[in-house]
Amino acid sequence: MAKKAIFKCSECGASYTKWSGRCDGCGAWNSIEEEVPLSTAGPAKKTLGAMKGRSIPLTDLGTTEAPPPRTMSGMSELDRVLGGGLVDASAILVGGDPGIGKSTLLLQGAARFAEAGLKVVYISGEEASAQVRMRAQRLGLSHAPVLLGAETNLRDILTTLETEKPDLAIIDSIQTMWADHVESAPGSVSQVRAAAHELTTFAKQRGMAVILVGHVTKEGQIAGPRVVEHMVDTVLYFEGERGHQFRILRSVKNRFGPADEIGVFEMTGGGLSEVSNPSALFLSERGEPTPGSVVFSGIEGTRPVLVEMQALVAPSPHSQPRRAVVGWDSARLAMILAVLEARCGIAFAGLDVYLNVAGGMKISEPAADLAVAAALLSAREDAALPKDTVVFGEISLSGAIRPVGQTENRLKEAQKLGFSTAIVPNAKKDGDTAGMQTRTFADLTGFVGDIFGAG
Ligand code: TYD
Ligand code: MG
Repeated sequence: MAKKAIFKCSECGASYTKWSGRCDGCGAWNSIEEEVPLSTAGPAKKTLGAMKGRSIPLTDLGTTEAPPPRTMSGMSELDRVLGGGLVDASAILVGGDPGIGKSTLLLQGAARFAEAGLKVVYISGEEASAQVRMRAQRLGLSHAPVLLGAETNLRDILTTLETEKPDLAIIDSIQTMWADHVESAPGSVSQVRAAAHELTTFAKQRGMAVILVGHVTKEGQIAGPRVVEHMVDTVLYFEGERGHQFRILRSVKNRFGPADEIGVFEMTGGGLSEVSNPSALFLSERGEPTPGSVVFSGIEGTRPVLVEMQALVAPSPHSQPRRAVVGWDSARLAMILAVLEARCGIAFAGLDVYLNVAGGMKISEPAADLAVAAALLSAREDAALPKDTVVFGEISLSGAIRPVGQTENRLKEAQKLGFSTAIVPNAKKDGDTAGMQTRTFADLTGFVGDIFGAG
């Protein structure tokens, strides 16, 4: 039986059995169109048809399997971010700004994995082998049994990997790779996608782990690593500010471990060195207490990390005052400013506000809200917080200070680094926890009144 045609108004959605020039529902003219029922969309030949496929085995959820085998590089910052070492036959994407140190990190990682017994092939599409060797010499890695290749033709690379059968292949970078069956320039979305697809499928079939390097590009001239994020098991981003020596390797997706784990490195003349106690490093440049500086006790992945939040508030010469943020979310800053104004009556109108997370760290936790508010108030009132104080807590739009997770860990880390007082949400009782004096606040108004005597 032929399906009855349905006509629908594209303005208000009213349906009719026949076309008319004007919709009775909303009065619009010429808005009624025929709607094609779903079941007849597209010619029948384009579907899979009647031919049967093979049936696939299904299992239940209770079936247990051994955890995937892993290899440790011995660089503990790298191993932790990978979720406890490199998983066999996994596909990993390492993204980051050009020049941030991806090639350096992966060459050092390649050498360590090779020393741990893996057969490692490093393919560079950006530099000649001689250049990579020179870097290796500079890093003191020339003795490491890593096999080098300089090539961009994907077919040749896959043929080489087929004969060499490495345990780990590093492709630096995915944007320089070129698959000859795709008719577009290297670095275009379709080339990057095709190359990543070929490499990850090859890796899964042959039991080889593959690390793809991807440049993050702001101009959008070449396809960024985002287009291949869904194809790989693990996505790591290598971040840091150019002017700072700190580099942070962050896992944003990991099928084999926790996401949001970070590894901290320092770029030195001899390559990247691991930073096993990041809090001490992030706070090392801190001097006497200054207005606008507040130490936040944060959690990055499984580790507590202390960082300094710096704020500067100054009268603005512009009609539209500036709000500049480095290392934090600018929408979140706008929210904190609005809450301070609406709930505590502290206005920042006519004032420029600058906020910076010291050391080139990026913070995304809402637990930093209270530390940011404290830094802003401290800068505005020109009153420094005591030197031995850390702050954490989430601020809601109502002005309430909400409890955050892992309070104990945050306090312990602060205590370890010589802090004695913590300003925290109300979930904890006032008093002594983990050797720290805690001062609790239920809302922002109470906090402002008590700490800054304003409000
Ligand atoms: P690189 O690994 O080439 O960056 P990417 O592959 O992400 O583009 O690193 C480039 C920067 O690192 C370069 O500006 C110099 C610096 N660097 C050092 O400071 N020390 C070193 O030992 C090395 C190898 C590089
Ligand atoms: Mg590079």
